[in-house]
Amino acid sequence: MIAAMPTSHVNSLIAALPLDRGAAEPLFRQLYGAIKAAILDGRMGPGMQLPPTRAFCRLLAVSRQTVLNAYALLAAEGYLDGTVGRGTFISPDVPLSVPPSAAPAPGTPGLLRPLSARGQGVVTAMRQVAIHRGPLRAFRVGMPRIDHFPFDVWTRLEARRWRRPDHQFGYSDPAGFLPLRELLCVYLKASRGVRCTPQQIVITSGSQQALFLLSTILLAPGDAAWMESPGYRGASGPLRAAGARVFPVPVDAQGLDVAYGVAHCPQAKLAYVTPSHQMPLGVSMSLPRRLALLAWAAQHKAWLVEDDYDSEYRYTGAPLASLQSLDRAGCVVYVGTLSKVLFPGLRLGYMVAPPALAEALAQAKAVMDRHTAIVPQMALADFIAEGHFGRHIRRTRDSNAERRDLLLRGIARELDDQLACGPADSGLELCAYFRGAHEEEAVARAGLERGIELRPLGHYADPQAGAACATPAGLLLGFAAIPPAELAHGVQELGRILRGR
Ligand SMILES: Cc1ncc(COP(=O)(O)O)c(C=O)c1O
Repeated sequence: MIAAMPTSHVNSLIAALPLDRGAAEPLFRQLYGAIKAAILDGRMGPGMQLPPTRAFCRLLAVSRQTVLNAYALLAAEGYLDGTVGRGTFISPDVPLSVPPSAAPAPGTPGLLRPLSARGQGVVTAMRQVAIHRGPLRAFRVGMPRIDHFPFDVWTRLEARRWRRPDHQFGYSDPAGFLPLRELLCVYLKASRGVRCTPQQIVITSGSQQALFLLSTILLAPGDAAWMESPGYRGASGPLRAAGARVFPVPVDAQGLDVAYGVAHCPQAKLAYVTPSHQMPLGVSMSLPRRLALLAWAAQHKAWLVEDDYDSEYRYTGAPLASLQSLDRAGCVVYVGTLSKVLFPGLRLGYMVAPPALAEALAQAKAVMDRHTAIVPQMALADFIAEGHFGRHIRRTRDSNAERRDLLLRGIARELDDQLACGPADSGLELCAYFRGAHEEEAVARAGLERGIELRPLGHYADPQAGAACATPAGLLLGFAAIPPAELAHGVQELGRILRGR
Protein backbone atom coordinates (compact mmCIF):
# COMPACT_ATOMS: atom_id res chain seq x y z
CA MET A 1 0.00 0.00 0.00
CA ILE A 2 1.34 3.42 -0.83
CA ALA A 3 1.58 6.20 1.68
CA ALA A 4 -1.71 8.00 2.36
CA MET A 5 -2.20 11.10 0.22
CA PRO A 6 -3.21 14.40 1.84
CA THR A 7 -6.98 14.92 1.62
CA SER A 8 -6.53 18.29 -0.07
CA HIS A 9 -4.58 16.65 -2.91
CA VAL A 10 -7.20 13.90 -3.34
CA ASN A 11 -9.93 16.52 -3.39
CA SER A 12 -8.22 18.59 -6.04
CA LEU A 13 -7.70 15.45 -8.16
CA ILE A 14 -11.40 14.67 -7.91
CA ALA A 15 -12.52 18.21 -8.57
CA ALA A 16 -10.49 18.07 -11.81
CA LEU A 17 -12.26 14.97 -13.15
CA PRO A 18 -13.80 15.97 -16.49
CA LEU A 19 -17.59 15.74 -16.59
CA ASP A 20 -19.75 17.04 -19.42
CA ARG A 21 -23.25 17.73 -18.24
CA GLY A 22 -24.51 18.29 -21.78
CA ALA A 23 -23.27 14.93 -23.12
CA ALA A 24 -25.56 12.01 -23.96
CA GLU A 25 -23.49 9.66 -21.78
CA PRO A 26 -24.95 9.41 -18.24
CA LEU A 27 -22.95 11.22 -15.57
CA PHE A 28 -22.26 8.06 -13.58
CA ARG A 29 -20.64 6.46 -16.67
CA GLN A 30 -18.56 9.59 -17.23
CA LEU A 31 -17.48 9.55 -13.59
CA TYR A 32 -16.67 5.84 -13.76
CA GLY A 33 -14.62 6.43 -16.93
CA ALA A 34 -12.78 9.42 -15.48
CA ILE A 35 -11.81 7.62 -12.24
CA LYS A 36 -10.77 4.51 -14.19
CA ALA A 37 -8.60 6.61 -16.52
CA ALA A 38 -7.03 8.36 -13.50
CA ILE A 39 -6.22 4.96 -11.96
CA LEU A 40 -4.82 3.51 -15.18
CA ASP A 41 -2.62 6.48 -15.96
CA GLY A 42 -1.30 6.64 -12.40
CA ARG A 43 -2.92 9.85 -11.13
CA MET A 44 -4.70 7.75 -8.50
CA GLY A 45 -2.62 4.95 -7.05
CA PRO A 46 -3.37 1.68 -5.21
CA GLY A 47 -4.43 2.17 -1.58
CA MET A 48 -5.54 5.76 -2.06
CA GLN A 49 -8.69 6.53 -0.10
CA LEU A 50 -11.56 8.19 -1.94
CA PRO A 51 -13.78 10.65 -0.07
CA PRO A 52 -17.07 9.35 1.34
CA THR A 53 -19.85 9.51 -1.26
CA ARG A 54 -21.54 12.49 0.39
CA ALA A 55 -18.34 14.56 0.27
CA PHE A 56 -17.59 13.29 -3.24
CA CYS A 57 -20.95 14.44 -4.62
CA ARG A 58 -20.52 17.88 -3.07
CA LEU A 59 -17.06 18.23 -4.62
CA LEU A 60 -18.38 17.47 -8.11
CA ALA A 61 -21.88 18.87 -7.66
CA VAL A 62 -23.52 15.63 -8.74
CA SER A 63 -26.17 13.50 -7.06
CA ARG A 64 -25.13 10.89 -4.50
CA GLN A 65 -26.73 8.20 -6.66
CA THR A 66 -24.35 9.14 -9.50
CA VAL A 67 -21.38 8.57 -7.20
CA LEU A 68 -22.84 5.34 -5.78
CA ASN A 69 -23.42 3.95 -9.29
CA ALA A 70 -19.90 4.85 -10.42
CA TYR A 71 -18.36 3.31 -7.26
CA ALA A 72 -20.44 0.15 -7.72
CA LEU A 73 -19.22 -0.33 -11.29
CA LEU A 74 -15.59 0.35 -10.38
CA ALA A 75 -15.82 -2.05 -7.44
CA ALA A 76 -17.38 -4.75 -9.65
CA GLU A 77 -14.46 -4.44 -12.07
CA GLY A 78 -11.92 -4.65 -9.24
CA TYR A 79 -10.68 -1.05 -9.23
CA LEU A 80 -12.11 -0.17 -5.80
CA ASP A 81 -12.18 -1.89 -2.44
CA GLY A 82 -14.53 -0.79 0.25
CA THR A 83 -16.04 -1.90 3.50
CA VAL A 84 -18.94 -0.10 5.10
CA GLY A 85 -17.73 2.23 7.77
CA ARG A 86 -14.05 1.99 6.81
CA GLY A 87 -14.12 3.92 3.55
CA THR A 88 -13.50 3.33 -0.15
CA PHE A 89 -9.96 2.72 -1.47
CA ILE A 90 -8.32 2.18 -4.83
CA SER A 91 -7.71 -1.56 -4.85
CA PRO A 92 -4.19 -2.60 -3.79
CA ASP A 93 -4.27 -5.08 -6.73
CA VAL A 94 -4.30 -2.29 -9.29
CA PRO A 95 -0.72 -2.18 -10.54
CA LEU A 96 1.29 0.98 -10.19
CA SER A 97 0.93 2.16 -13.74
CA VAL A 98 3.61 3.52 -15.98
CA PRO A 99 2.50 6.36 -18.26
CA PRO A 100 2.70 5.08 -21.86
CA SER A 101 5.80 6.16 -23.71
CA ALA A 102 5.02 8.58 -26.48
CA ALA A 103 7.88 7.28 -28.61
CA PRO A 104 6.75 4.75 -31.27
CA ALA A 105 8.70 1.55 -31.72
CA PRO A 106 11.40 1.76 -34.35
CA GLY A 107 10.41 0.62 -37.84
CA THR A 108 6.67 0.64 -37.22
CA PRO A 109 5.39 4.22 -37.29
CA GLY A 110 2.70 4.89 -34.72
CA LEU A 111 3.08 1.55 -32.95
CA LEU A 112 4.18 1.54 -29.32
CA ARG A 113 5.48 -2.04 -29.47
CA PRO A 114 7.18 -3.58 -32.50
CA LEU A 115 5.36 -6.22 -34.53
CA SER A 116 6.77 -9.72 -34.49
CA ALA A 117 9.10 -10.54 -37.40
CA ARG A 118 6.33 -12.74 -38.83
CA GLY A 119 3.79 -9.96 -38.36
CA GLN A 120 6.08 -7.49 -40.05
CA GLY A 121 6.37 -9.89 -43.01
CA VAL A 122 2.59 -10.23 -43.24
CA VAL A 123 1.76 -6.54 -43.09
CA THR A 124 4.38 -5.53 -45.63
CA ALA A 125 3.72 -8.40 -48.06
CA MET A 126 1.04 -6.57 -50.04
CA ARG A 127 1.51 -3.01 -48.82
CA GLN A 128 2.08 -1.49 -52.22
CA VAL A 129 -1.07 -2.86 -53.83
CA ALA A 130 -2.89 0.10 -55.34
CA ILE A 131 -6.64 -0.12 -54.96
CA HIS A 132 -8.73 2.28 -56.96
CA ARG A 133 -11.79 3.31 -55.05
CA GLY A 134 -14.57 5.74 -55.77
CA PRO A 135 -16.88 5.92 -58.76
CA LEU A 136 -16.05 3.65 -61.68
CA ARG A 137 -14.23 5.25 -64.56
CA ALA A 138 -12.28 4.13 -67.60
CA PHE A 139 -10.17 1.90 -67.38
CA ARG A 140 -10.66 0.46 -63.87
CA VAL A 141 -9.12 -3.01 -63.65
CA GLY A 142 -10.48 -6.01 -61.78
CA MET A 143 -14.12 -4.97 -61.95
CA PRO A 144 -16.98 -6.88 -63.55
CA ARG A 145 -20.12 -5.20 -64.79
CA ILE A 146 -21.95 -4.72 -61.52
CA ASP A 147 -25.13 -3.05 -62.81
CA HIS A 148 -26.01 -6.31 -64.57
CA PHE A 149 -26.13 -8.25 -61.34
CA PRO A 150 -29.73 -9.24 -60.45
CA PHE A 151 -29.71 -7.72 -56.97
CA ASP A 152 -33.49 -8.13 -56.72
CA VAL A 153 -33.16 -11.89 -57.21
CA TRP A 154 -30.29 -12.12 -54.72
CA THR A 155 -32.27 -10.09 -52.16
CA ARG A 156 -35.22 -12.45 -52.55
CA LEU A 157 -33.03 -15.54 -52.17
CA GLU A 158 -31.28 -14.21 -49.07
CA ALA A 159 -34.57 -13.03 -47.55
CA ARG A 160 -36.05 -16.50 -48.05
CA ARG A 161 -33.14 -17.99 -46.09
CA TRP A 162 -33.37 -15.34 -43.35
CA ARG A 163 -37.04 -16.14 -42.91
CA ARG A 164 -36.28 -19.79 -42.20
CA PRO A 165 -33.40 -19.88 -39.74
CA ASP A 166 -32.51 -23.42 -38.61
CA HIS A 167 -29.64 -25.34 -37.05
CA GLN A 168 -27.42 -24.38 -39.99
CA PHE A 169 -27.26 -20.84 -38.61
CA GLY A 170 -24.98 -22.19 -35.86
CA TYR A 171 -21.33 -23.10 -36.42
CA SER A 172 -21.07 -25.19 -39.54
CA ASP A 173 -18.61 -27.10 -41.70
CA PRO A 174 -15.39 -25.08 -42.21
CA ALA A 175 -15.23 -26.47 -45.76
CA GLY A 176 -18.46 -24.64 -46.55
CA PHE A 177 -22.16 -25.22 -47.18
CA LEU A 178 -22.40 -28.73 -48.63
CA PRO A 179 -25.17 -28.05 -51.20
CA LEU A 180 -23.06 -25.19 -52.56
CA ARG A 181 -20.01 -27.45 -52.85
CA GLU A 182 -22.12 -30.04 -54.66
CA LEU A 183 -23.37 -27.47 -57.16
CA LEU A 184 -19.89 -26.00 -57.71
CA CYS A 185 -18.57 -29.50 -58.31
CA VAL A 186 -21.08 -30.07 -61.13
CA TYR A 187 -20.42 -26.60 -62.55
CA LEU A 188 -16.62 -26.93 -62.51
CA LYS A 189 -16.74 -30.38 -64.10
CA ALA A 190 -18.97 -29.17 -66.90
CA SER A 191 -17.35 -25.82 -67.57
CA ARG A 192 -13.67 -26.48 -66.89
CA GLY A 193 -13.25 -30.23 -66.76
CA VAL A 194 -12.22 -30.03 -63.09
CA ARG A 195 -12.17 -33.55 -61.67
CA CYS A 196 -13.38 -33.53 -58.09
CA THR A 197 -15.93 -34.50 -55.49
CA PRO A 198 -17.73 -31.98 -53.23
CA GLN A 199 -15.45 -33.16 -50.39
CA GLN A 200 -12.49 -31.71 -52.27
CA ILE A 201 -13.96 -28.20 -52.31
CA VAL A 202 -13.36 -25.61 -49.59
CA ILE A 203 -15.34 -22.36 -49.74
CA THR A 204 -13.24 -19.31 -48.92
CA SER A 205 -13.57 -15.58 -48.53
CA GLY A 206 -12.51 -14.82 -52.11
CA SER A 207 -9.52 -16.47 -53.73
CA GLN A 208 -7.31 -14.23 -51.58
CA GLN A 209 -8.06 -16.32 -48.53
CA ALA A 210 -7.42 -19.50 -50.50
CA LEU A 211 -4.00 -18.18 -51.55
CA PHE A 212 -3.19 -17.18 -47.96
CA LEU A 213 -4.24 -20.57 -46.55
CA LEU A 214 -2.31 -22.46 -49.21
CA SER A 215 0.85 -20.41 -48.69
CA THR A 216 0.54 -20.78 -44.92
CA ILE A 217 0.14 -24.53 -44.78
CA LEU A 218 2.23 -25.62 -47.76
CA LEU A 219 5.33 -23.47 -47.33
CA ALA A 220 7.94 -23.15 -44.62
CA PRO A 221 9.90 -19.90 -44.24
CA GLY A 222 12.70 -19.91 -46.78
CA ASP A 223 11.00 -22.36 -49.19
CA ALA A 224 11.19 -21.24 -52.79
CA ALA A 225 7.97 -20.62 -54.73
CA TRP A 226 7.72 -19.86 -58.44
CA MET A 227 5.72 -16.79 -59.25
CA GLU A 228 4.78 -15.58 -62.73
CA SER A 229 6.63 -12.35 -63.52
CA PRO A 230 4.89 -10.12 -64.35
CA GLY A 231 2.22 -11.56 -62.13
CA TYR A 232 -0.64 -11.03 -59.73
CA ARG A 233 0.43 -9.30 -56.53
CA GLY A 234 -2.52 -10.80 -54.71
CA ALA A 235 -0.64 -14.09 -55.02
CA SER A 236 2.92 -12.98 -54.34
CA GLY A 237 1.67 -11.21 -51.16
CA PRO A 238 0.56 -14.41 -49.37
CA LEU A 239 3.71 -16.22 -50.54
CA ARG A 240 5.85 -13.50 -48.99
CA ALA A 241 3.67 -13.39 -45.88
CA ALA A 242 4.42 -17.09 -45.40
CA GLY A 243 8.12 -16.27 -45.48
CA ALA A 244 8.64 -17.97 -48.83
CA ARG A 245 11.41 -16.97 -51.20
CA VAL A 246 9.47 -15.77 -54.22
CA PHE A 247 11.28 -16.84 -57.38
CA PRO A 248 10.16 -14.81 -60.41
CA VAL A 249 9.72 -16.91 -63.57
CA PRO A 250 9.30 -15.13 -66.91
CA VAL A 251 6.12 -15.33 -68.99
CA ASP A 252 6.08 -15.36 -72.80
CA ALA A 253 3.48 -15.98 -75.48
CA GLN A 254 3.08 -19.59 -74.26
CA GLY A 255 2.67 -18.66 -70.62
CA LEU A 256 5.04 -19.45 -67.75
CA ASP A 257 8.53 -20.32 -68.99
CA VAL A 258 8.72 -23.68 -67.24
CA ALA A 259 12.19 -24.49 -68.62
CA TYR A 260 13.53 -21.30 -67.01
CA GLY A 261 12.10 -22.27 -63.63
CA VAL A 262 13.44 -25.81 -63.92
CA ALA A 263 16.89 -24.54 -64.90
CA HIS A 264 17.19 -21.89 -62.19
CA CYS A 265 15.05 -23.02 -59.26
CA PRO A 266 14.14 -26.71 -59.62
CA GLN A 267 13.80 -27.20 -55.87
CA ALA A 268 10.79 -24.85 -55.50
CA LYS A 269 7.98 -26.26 -53.35
CA LEU A 270 5.14 -24.49 -55.14
CA ALA A 271 4.35 -22.70 -58.38
CA TYR A 272 1.56 -20.16 -58.78
CA VAL A 273 0.07 -19.93 -62.29
CA THR A 274 -2.84 -18.37 -64.16
CA PRO A 275 -2.81 -20.79 -67.12
CA SER A 276 -6.20 -19.93 -68.63
CA HIS A 277 -5.58 -16.20 -68.78
CA GLN A 278 -2.28 -14.95 -67.50
CA MET A 279 -2.52 -11.93 -65.24
CA PRO A 280 -1.65 -9.34 -66.63
CA LEU A 281 -0.43 -10.34 -70.10
CA GLY A 282 -3.57 -12.24 -71.11
CA VAL A 283 -1.83 -15.23 -72.74
CA SER A 284 -3.01 -18.79 -72.13
CA MET A 285 -0.50 -21.49 -71.30
CA SER A 286 0.26 -23.84 -74.19
CA LEU A 287 -0.28 -27.57 -73.82
CA PRO A 288 3.46 -28.45 -73.95
CA ARG A 289 4.09 -25.95 -71.14
CA ARG A 290 1.22 -27.35 -69.08
CA LEU A 291 2.57 -30.86 -69.47
CA ALA A 292 6.13 -29.74 -68.64
CA LEU A 293 4.87 -27.95 -65.53
CA LEU A 294 2.93 -31.00 -64.36
CA ALA A 295 5.94 -33.25 -65.02
CA TRP A 296 8.23 -31.00 -62.97
CA ALA A 297 5.73 -30.81 -60.10
CA ALA A 298 5.22 -34.58 -60.07
CA GLN A 299 8.97 -35.25 -60.15
CA HIS A 300 9.89 -32.69 -57.46
CA LYS A 301 6.78 -33.19 -55.31
CA ALA A 302 5.91 -29.53 -55.73
CA TRP A 303 2.42 -28.04 -55.52
CA LEU A 304 0.84 -26.17 -58.41
CA VAL A 305 -1.66 -23.47 -57.54
CA GLU A 306 -3.89 -22.82 -60.54
CA ASP A 307 -5.70 -19.49 -60.22
CA ASP A 308 -8.63 -19.61 -62.63
CA TYR A 309 -10.11 -16.23 -61.81
CA ASP A 310 -11.94 -15.08 -64.94
CA SER A 311 -12.11 -17.82 -67.53
CA GLU A 312 -15.92 -17.84 -67.58
CA TYR A 313 -15.36 -14.90 -69.89
CA ARG A 314 -13.91 -16.36 -73.00
CA TYR A 315 -15.17 -14.65 -76.14
CA THR A 316 -13.84 -16.87 -78.89
CA GLY A 317 -15.09 -20.31 -77.89
CA ALA A 318 -15.70 -22.44 -74.83
CA PRO A 319 -13.63 -21.90 -71.66
CA LEU A 320 -10.32 -23.76 -71.72
CA ALA A 321 -9.91 -27.00 -69.80
CA SER A 322 -8.15 -26.49 -66.50
CA LEU A 323 -4.61 -27.56 -65.65
CA GLN A 324 -6.21 -29.55 -62.85
CA SER A 325 -8.02 -31.70 -65.45
CA LEU A 326 -4.62 -32.89 -66.75
CA ASP A 327 -3.17 -33.63 -63.31
CA ARG A 328 -2.52 -37.33 -62.67
CA ALA A 329 -0.16 -36.86 -59.71
CA GLY A 330 -2.52 -34.96 -57.38
CA CYS A 331 -0.33 -31.89 -57.28
CA VAL A 332 -2.71 -29.19 -58.54
CA VAL A 333 -4.87 -27.04 -56.27
CA TYR A 334 -7.48 -25.25 -58.34
CA VAL A 335 -8.51 -21.82 -57.01
CA GLY A 336 -11.63 -20.02 -58.20
CA THR A 337 -13.51 -16.87 -57.29
CA LEU A 338 -16.94 -15.32 -57.62
CA SER A 339 -15.35 -11.87 -57.74
CA LYS A 340 -15.34 -11.62 -61.53
CA VAL A 341 -18.43 -13.57 -62.39
CA LEU A 342 -20.56 -11.92 -59.67
CA PHE A 343 -18.73 -9.09 -57.86
CA PRO A 344 -15.67 -8.66 -55.61
CA GLY A 345 -17.46 -7.26 -52.54
CA LEU A 346 -19.29 -10.57 -52.14
CA ARG A 347 -16.00 -12.14 -50.97
CA LEU A 348 -16.77 -15.66 -52.08
CA GLY A 349 -14.25 -18.04 -53.59
CA TYR A 350 -13.26 -21.68 -53.40
CA MET A 351 -10.42 -24.10 -53.83
CA VAL A 352 -10.41 -27.65 -55.10
CA ALA A 353 -7.64 -29.76 -53.61
CA PRO A 354 -6.66 -33.43 -53.55
CA PRO A 355 -8.77 -35.10 -50.79
CA ALA A 356 -6.23 -35.20 -47.94
CA LEU A 357 -5.11 -31.65 -48.60
CA ALA A 358 -8.74 -30.47 -48.78
CA GLU A 359 -9.25 -31.82 -45.26
CA ALA A 360 -6.13 -30.05 -44.00
CA LEU A 361 -7.24 -26.82 -45.69
CA ALA A 362 -10.64 -27.04 -44.04
CA GLN A 363 -8.91 -27.38 -40.64
CA ALA A 364 -6.77 -24.34 -41.41
CA LYS A 365 -9.87 -22.44 -42.53
CA ALA A 366 -11.47 -23.27 -39.15
CA VAL A 367 -8.47 -21.78 -37.37
CA MET A 368 -8.72 -18.63 -39.43
CA ASP A 369 -12.43 -17.81 -39.34
CA ARG A 370 -14.33 -21.05 -38.57
CA HIS A 371 -16.16 -20.82 -41.88
CA THR A 372 -17.43 -18.34 -44.44
CA ALA A 373 -20.70 -16.57 -43.53
CA ILE A 374 -23.48 -19.06 -44.14
CA VAL A 375 -26.30 -16.96 -45.64
CA PRO A 376 -24.35 -15.70 -48.71
CA GLN A 377 -23.26 -19.32 -49.29
CA MET A 378 -26.90 -20.44 -49.12
CA ALA A 379 -28.02 -17.64 -51.41
CA LEU A 380 -25.31 -18.55 -53.90
CA ALA A 381 -26.36 -22.20 -53.83
CA ASP A 382 -29.96 -21.16 -54.60
CA PHE A 383 -28.73 -18.69 -57.22
CA ILE A 384 -26.93 -21.53 -59.03
CA ALA A 385 -29.62 -24.18 -58.50
CA GLU A 386 -32.39 -21.95 -59.84
CA GLY A 387 -30.55 -21.06 -63.03
CA HIS A 388 -29.75 -17.42 -62.26
CA PHE A 389 -25.99 -18.05 -62.25
CA GLY A 390 -25.91 -19.47 -65.77
CA ARG A 391 -28.16 -16.69 -67.05
CA HIS A 392 -26.02 -14.03 -65.42
CA ILE A 393 -22.83 -15.43 -66.93
CA ARG A 394 -24.37 -15.53 -70.42
CA ARG A 395 -25.66 -11.96 -70.11
CA THR A 396 -22.43 -10.53 -68.82
CA ARG A 397 -20.37 -12.48 -71.34
CA ASP A 398 -22.35 -10.80 -74.15
CA SER A 399 -22.00 -7.39 -72.53
CA ASN A 400 -18.27 -7.85 -71.89
CA ALA A 401 -17.75 -9.01 -75.48
CA GLU A 402 -19.48 -5.86 -76.77
CA ARG A 403 -17.33 -3.60 -74.60
CA ARG A 404 -14.19 -5.49 -75.51
CA ASP A 405 -15.02 -5.03 -79.24
CA LEU A 406 -15.68 -1.36 -78.64
CA LEU A 407 -12.33 -0.90 -76.96
CA LEU A 408 -10.49 -2.89 -79.63
CA ARG A 409 -12.20 -0.90 -82.41
CA GLY A 410 -11.48 2.37 -80.60
CA ILE A 411 -7.81 1.52 -80.26
CA ALA A 412 -7.61 0.31 -83.88
CA ARG A 413 -9.24 3.54 -85.09
CA GLU A 414 -7.55 6.10 -82.88
CA LEU A 415 -4.49 4.58 -81.27
CA ASP A 416 -3.15 2.05 -83.71
CA ASP A 417 0.09 4.00 -84.11
CA GLN A 418 0.47 4.17 -80.32
CA LEU A 419 -0.64 0.84 -78.87
CA ALA A 420 -0.22 -2.84 -79.76
CA CYS A 421 -2.87 -5.00 -78.12
CA GLY A 422 -2.08 -8.31 -76.43
CA PRO A 423 -4.42 -11.33 -76.62
CA ALA A 424 -8.04 -10.24 -76.27
CA ASP A 425 -9.93 -13.52 -76.33
CA SER A 426 -10.91 -13.58 -72.66
CA GLY A 427 -11.16 -11.73 -69.38
CA LEU A 428 -12.22 -8.31 -68.21
CA GLU A 429 -9.05 -6.44 -69.18
CA LEU A 430 -6.89 -5.83 -72.20
CA CYS A 431 -3.13 -5.62 -72.12
CA ALA A 432 -1.81 -2.91 -74.47
CA TYR A 433 1.87 -2.24 -75.17
CA PHE A 434 3.29 1.18 -76.06
CA ARG A 435 4.66 1.35 -79.61
CA GLY A 436 6.64 4.47 -78.74
CA ALA A 437 8.90 5.27 -75.83
CA HIS A 438 6.69 6.23 -72.90
CA GLU A 439 7.24 6.13 -69.20
CA GLU A 440 4.39 4.07 -67.72
CA GLU A 441 4.11 5.91 -64.42
CA ALA A 442 4.09 9.32 -66.13
CA VAL A 443 1.31 8.14 -68.45
CA ALA A 444 -0.66 6.80 -65.46
CA ARG A 445 -0.27 10.12 -63.61
CA ALA A 446 -1.40 12.06 -66.66
CA GLY A 447 -4.40 9.73 -66.87
CA LEU A 448 -5.45 10.50 -63.31
CA GLU A 449 -5.17 14.21 -63.99
CA ARG A 450 -7.59 13.71 -66.88
CA GLY A 451 -9.95 11.49 -64.90
CA ILE A 452 -8.99 8.08 -66.28
CA GLU A 453 -7.26 5.15 -64.57
CA LEU A 454 -4.31 3.59 -66.40
CA ARG A 455 -2.68 0.63 -64.70
CA PRO A 456 1.02 0.36 -65.69
CA LEU A 457 2.18 -3.17 -66.54
CA GLY A 458 5.16 -2.44 -64.29
CA HIS A 459 2.76 -2.71 -61.35
CA TYR A 460 2.86 -6.48 -61.87
CA ALA A 461 6.63 -6.74 -62.13
CA ASP A 462 8.67 -8.19 -59.29
CA PRO A 463 11.23 -5.51 -58.37
CA GLN A 464 13.74 -8.28 -57.68
CA ALA A 465 13.20 -10.00 -61.03
CA GLY A 466 16.13 -9.98 -63.42
CA ALA A 467 16.32 -9.05 -67.09
CA ALA A 468 14.83 -12.43 -68.09
CA CYS A 469 11.47 -11.26 -66.73
CA ALA A 470 11.50 -7.85 -68.46
CA THR A 471 8.33 -7.11 -70.45
CA PRO A 472 7.68 -4.21 -72.82
CA ALA A 473 6.11 -1.12 -71.30
CA GLY A 474 2.36 -0.79 -71.49
CA LEU A 475 -0.95 -0.66 -69.67
CA LEU A 476 -3.69 -2.95 -68.47
CA LEU A 477 -7.04 -1.51 -69.50
CA GLY A 478 -10.22 -2.71 -67.78
CA PHE A 479 -13.30 -2.57 -70.01
CA ALA A 480 -16.05 -4.84 -68.61
CA ALA A 481 -17.43 -2.44 -66.00
CA ILE A 482 -17.12 0.71 -68.11
CA PRO A 483 -20.11 2.06 -70.06
CA PRO A 484 -19.52 2.56 -73.82
CA ALA A 485 -19.45 6.38 -73.70
CA GLU A 486 -16.83 6.30 -70.93
CA LEU A 487 -14.75 3.81 -72.90
CA ALA A 488 -14.83 6.07 -75.97
CA HIS A 489 -13.92 9.07 -73.81
CA GLY A 490 -11.09 7.07 -72.20
CA VAL A 491 -9.64 6.11 -75.59
CA GLN A 492 -9.64 9.76 -76.67
CA GLU A 493 -7.97 10.93 -73.47
CA LEU A 494 -5.39 8.18 -73.69
CA GLY A 495 -4.65 9.24 -77.26
CA ARG A 496 -4.11 12.83 -76.14
CA ILE A 497 -1.75 11.69 -73.40
CA LEU A 498 0.30 9.44 -75.67
CA ARG A 499 0.53 12.14 -78.34
CA GLY A 500 1.50 14.73 -75.73
CA ARG A 501 -1.46 17.04 -76.39
C1 LIG B 1 -5.21 -13.21 -60.94
C2 LIG B 1 -6.35 -12.92 -60.02
N1 LIG B 1 -6.78 -13.87 -59.19
C3 LIG B 1 -7.82 -13.66 -58.36
C4 LIG B 1 -8.47 -12.46 -58.35
C5 LIG B 1 -9.66 -12.29 -57.45
O1 LIG B 1 -9.36 -12.21 -56.13
P1 LIG B 1 -10.49 -12.35 -55.01
O2 LIG B 1 -11.20 -13.63 -55.25
O3 LIG B 1 -9.74 -12.38 -53.74
O4 LIG B 1 -11.38 -11.17 -55.14
C6 LIG B 1 -8.05 -11.43 -59.17
C7 LIG B 1 -8.71 -10.12 -59.13
O5 LIG B 1 -8.35 -9.17 -59.74
C8 LIG B 1 -6.96 -11.68 -60.04
O6 LIG B 1 -6.53 -10.71 -60.87
